[in-house]
Amino acid sequence: MAPAATRAVLFSFSTEVRIFHLSSSRDGKDFMMTVVEQPTSAWVPGPTLGIETSCDETAASVLAADGSVLSNIITSQHAVHRRFGGVVPELASRAHIESIEDVSAEALQQAGLTWTNLTGIAVTQGPGLAGALLVGVNYAKAIAYALNIPVVGVSHLEGHIASAWLQDPAFPLPCVVLVVSGGHTHLYYKKPSGHCRLLGSTRDDAAGEAFDKGAQLLGLEYPGGPAIDRLAREGNPDAIPFPRSYLKVGSLDFSFSGVKTALLYALQAMHERSRAARAADLAAGYQEAIVAVLVDKAFAAVRSSGARALAVVGGVSANSRLRALLQQRATSEGLHLSLPPLAYCTDNAAMIAAAGRQALCAGLRASLDIDAQASLTSPFAQAL
Ligand code: KG4
Ligand code: ZN
Repeated sequence: MAPAATRAVLFSFSTEVRIFHLSSSRDGKDFMMTVVEQPTSAWVPGPTLGIETSCDETAASVLAADGSVLSNIITSQHAVHRRFGGVVPELASRAHIESIEDVSAEALQQAGLTWTNLTGIAVTQGPGLAGALLVGVNYAKAIAYALNIPVVGVSHLEGHIASAWLQDPAFPLPCVVLVVSGGHTHLYYKKPSGHCRLLGSTRDDAAGEAFDKGAQLLGLEYPGGPAIDRLAREGNPDAIPFPRSYLKVGSLDFSFSGVKTALLYALQAMHERSRAARAADLAAGYQEAIVAVLVDKAFAAVRSSGARALAVVGGVSANSRLRALLQQRATSEGLHLSLPPLAYCTDNAAMIAAAGRQALCAGLRASLDIDAQASLTSPFAQAL
């Protein structure tokens, strides 16, 4: 029998589709969900399956009717990509095809449910690797068709933002959300209505990219963020100073290209032996320069927006030094802080299910025509 994703491709539909870009402001800095709607009857919240295949993690999760997480299964492809020093898109797609069926079945089993208990499906539609996304989107569409339940396509960023409420559904709004991942370093102001307003973003590398590229320069293994995090624990962050880029006064934008260049120059100026001997200090100093700016700008955004709560999400929010600094500062400033558990920081499907569940509750549906959108930036594109 053909693999799951191939079978899923066999389903092809043509229904009338209306596209809603629920983004409003003239400067494009506001957004809500972008959803393709197909008129259907009202959705009664029930078990919801989330699927995430945007990069190098195949993940499936089941949420209960009340939104609590019943299972959160993640299969990482790190072993597949490690020897190439980064994600190889072709290999990623193949690995997703091989594991999506087992990962989804395991998510159901761990939730104590069967396929027919599901009432809705949410899948990452983009942004991400085209081939990788395609596997998840087609699998989700096939399951939705077979079970005759609605499916929604979710922006990966909306998923990361939703992760802040997984553990703490009562986390207050309005709040500032810092999304720090391999592709994004974005600061949002999220209103009680659910609207998000972009306050600032990176002008060059994302924070995760800076970690990954820095790790490559230091000769550490992929993925670089966790490798720098581990090595930095043995080093002195003040031993080798690195530049911290704040841009102009009051700016909530980020730039990490300078610190990366500083690491390159520091390494070039060292002999081979001292590079190895000082690797931990280099990692600690480099990490400190990135996380100090993230923390300062996140708290500056809270102050300037008047919010009393801060959520930090995305893969880089797993960084131990960043978490410690955020917690210290939130305590001293008396601020609500949402720092999701590690399983919800890096890519996972619980966050996709959570964002999709909100969309389904709001009456939004995707048609079975939806396709993967590798550069799904809308409505984010307008905000950049
Ligand atoms: O959210 P994520 O899993 O995928 C994207 O949406 O990009 O984030 C992955 C990024 C990678 O750049 C990875 O190196 C970084 O998160 N990361 C970390 C840590 N764990 C993952 N960066 C710093 N410290 C960590 N402990
Ligand atoms: Zn992500």
